[in-house]
Amino acid sequence: MNNNVVILGTQWGDEGKGKIVDFLTESFDCVVRYQGGHNAGHTLIVNKKKIILHLIPSGILYKDVLCILGNGVVISPVDLLQEINMLSDFNISINNRLFISGNCPLVLDYHVKMDIAREQFLKNDCIGTTKKGIGPAYEDKVARYGLKIYDLYNEKILKKKLKSIIQYYNFQLVHYYKTFPVDYHVVLKDLLEIKYIFQKKVQDIPNMLHRMYKNKKRIIFEGAQGALLDLDHGTFPYVTSSNTTIGGVLTGSGVHYKQINCILGVTKSYCTRVGSGPFPTELKNDIGDYLCNKGKEIGSTTGRKRRTGWLDLVLLSRTVMLNSITSLCLTKLDVLDDLPEVKICIAYKNIKTLEMIETSSKYFNLFNVKPVYKVFPGWKKSTRGIVRFSQLPVNAQNYILYIEEYLGKTEFIDIISTGPERSETIIVRNKLNLQNI
Ligand code: GDP
Ligand code: IMO
Ligand code: MG
Repeated sequence: MNNNVVILGTQWGDEGKGKIVDFLTESFDCVVRYQGGHNAGHTLIVNKKKIILHLIPSGILYKDVLCILGNGVVISPVDLLQEINMLSDFNISINNRLFISGNCPLVLDYHVKMDIAREQFLKNDCIGTTKKGIGPAYEDKVARYGLKIYDLYNEKILKKKLKSIIQYYNFQLVHYYKTFPVDYHVVLKDLLEIKYIFQKKVQDIPNMLHRMYKNKKRIIFEGAQGALLDLDHGTFPYVTSSNTTIGGVLTGSGVHYKQINCILGVTKSYCTRVGSGPFPTELKNDIGDYLCNKGKEIGSTTGRKRRTGWLDLVLLSRTVMLNSITSLCLTKLDVLDDLPEVKICIAYKNIKTLEMIETSSKYFNLFNVKPVYKVFPGWKKSTRGIVRFSQLPVNAQNYILYIEEYLGKTEFIDIISTGPERSETIIVRNKLNLQNI
């Protein structure tokens, strides 16, 4: 068996997916991004060197590993180029190892302007997007007039389509949002300059993945955002514009479902959220500030302070169910080290069954639920950098085992992260058949 794995955030993003993908990549041949765009911010820290990736898969630090952007990823050519240049400053080359689907929709300046204009227009009701143009770019895809990577290589069609799209956007930007128009000539010039850089990287990705599968190559599918930000299953409308849940892997890469062997959910030991929307366990107090400071919870894409709160098992059991999570990775355990007590949300008052927790249903208002907590004694010892489960303080072990018990799954939390560095990781069980551990 190939043992291909999906790495999927189970909360509102920033669970530490990038660190885990980077850690696992040593045992794999290829890492594929399948949804989202440069709204993602995945942080890798190796030997104190920090690299934040937004579009390029987190396997890029291993020189023999292929990195792929599947058709579900929306690509800002300008931002992708910036990221490639940033990596080359670190002496990391993407030549012959970064491949892009021609089917990826483009994110262009007018998407960014529209994202910003709408957020300003909505004022207090805004979504709190990353203002990277992601929503408008996905809208253009669904509307079937958006530009895709392959359009870059037919100049006549590119010019024709771009002109009419910009006319349409400018009408809205100027007349409805009362803001400035976008200059067709500037957008076109940028695209014509940049397109050669990507040309050799454009490939038939589904075919490539099927060939790799046949040749027993091992693939990581790297999720962006988290399940609760899913367009269809998340806390709508406070979500992103792609499917962050498991279905996104198939539609966003062209892989067959039988080629996925393991779905590794990544869960922070507490919760964070950036932007607006319901957050039942949010802590607007000293403990919330402690989690923010100790966890360095500053957005890696926008620099915004992340909202913080206790781990919410009601929502976690929902995302485990929705995504058929087969194995869990618990991150940032070390952030809880200094707390005298640690809480976990195990229910909401007045809500009896899990079936009612349909996060995007208007009949169920996550803004108004009151969490019920189970309180655990803290461990007041450093877990930073611990690499064996048995070396964790007993109270920390109990905290972890309770999560499995609540989810009704034994031997489920297979990886624990005890620090941001690649090496600060516990493999509880080597279900993924990792090398060198
Ligand atoms: P992603 O979007 O899911 O990849 O997560 P981000 O990179 O946006 O945010 C996670 C942050 O937590 C980054 O700053 C990581 O370096 C850091 N991090 C990851 N795992 C751990 C951990 O176990 N402990 C601590 N203290 N930090 C971690
Ligand atoms: P990673 O991959 C956390 C949030 C935004 C906003 C909502 C919609 O690093 O986990 P968008 O710009 O996508 O239209 O914004 O989604 N958001 C994220 N929050 N981590 C992310 O990515 C996010 N990407 C988008 O803050 O609330
Ligand atoms: Mg992030």
